[in-house]
Amino acid sequence: MSERRVAVVTGGARRLGRHLCLTLSARGYDIVCLYRASELDARTLEQEIAAAGGRARCLRTDVSRRTEVAAAFENIRAQEGRVDLLVHNVGNYNPQDVTRLDPTVWDDTIGANLSGGYYCCYHALGLMPDGGQIISIGMAGLEGIRANRRGADYYVSKTGLLVLTRALAAGYADRKIRVNMISPGQLDNSVDLPGPDEIGLEVPLARPGTLDDIAQALVYLLEAGYVTGVNLDVAGGYRL
Ligand SMILES: NC(=O)c1ccc[n+]([C@@H]2O[C@H](COP(=O)([O-])OP(=O)(O)OC[C@H]3O[C@@H](n4cnc5c(N)ncnc54)[C@H](OP(=O)(O)O)[C@@H]3O)[C@@H](O)[C@H]2O)c1
Repeated sequence: MSERRVAVVTGGARRLGRHLCLTLSARGYDIVCLYRASELDARTLEQEIAAAGGRARCLRTDVSRRTEVAAAFENIRAQEGRVDLLVHNVGNYNPQDVTRLDPTVWDDTIGANLSGGYYCCYHALGLMPDGGQIISIGMAGLEGIRANRRGADYYVSKTGLLVLTRALAAGYADRKIRVNMISPGQLDNSVDLPGPDEIGLEVPLARPGTLDDIAQALVYLLEAGYVTGVNLDVAGGYRL
């Protein structure tokens, strides 16, 4: 069995997930990235990490499908033999008004964001040594959430993940496994980003978040040995 630390990142081939893979690789983790469709991005991620002297492999896995997740972690058991860190980054956002919310969109969102997160946690915990970690990516403002007509499925999935985060943190504390959530607000690649003159109306720090802002929080949690069950808003005060 390898003694190198292994991080599994869901939705890791592109955008935020890719940045977190690169951050973790630079800190010495071997990366296993689960992706759904972004084949080319997955291959370039493997190449980029290898060129920098790290190790990464990408497995095509639809995390909303239980059997695919089980097969991916069986593959990880055979190859890496362990999972020290799981980052559940998949978070599909397809906002529709709640009066027109299509049930297939509901199923897809809950399946990938919430159930997929649980499937990955379940299998990762089976390969995780004591002292391992799980970090889910949430959405800022979950603690004070009110009715949200647009994207109800998304907010239900993220709130559910927060409840799961706290339950797992309590349940696995005896193994010193820490389980936390990082919640971005509006990142500079957001599909909903307000214009530069308007961002200050929603975000007191008056700028969108960057991928580095989120990576900083990840790096903090890696070393924060007394922090578990928390949701860390990294959002410039969004939805205070
Ligand atoms: N961007 C923001 O402003 C913002 C704000 C708040 C919170 N967040 C959260 O931050 C996280 C990352 O955001 P993002 O904007 O980078 O996300 P994104 O562009 O939606 O990308 C997420 C990745 O998830 C993968 N994915 C989707 N469904 C999947 C499935 N069923 N199985 C496996 N992989 C799947 C996609 O892979 P393929 O391309 O291979 O399909 C994609 O690369 C999400 O949890 C999101 O909710 C983002």
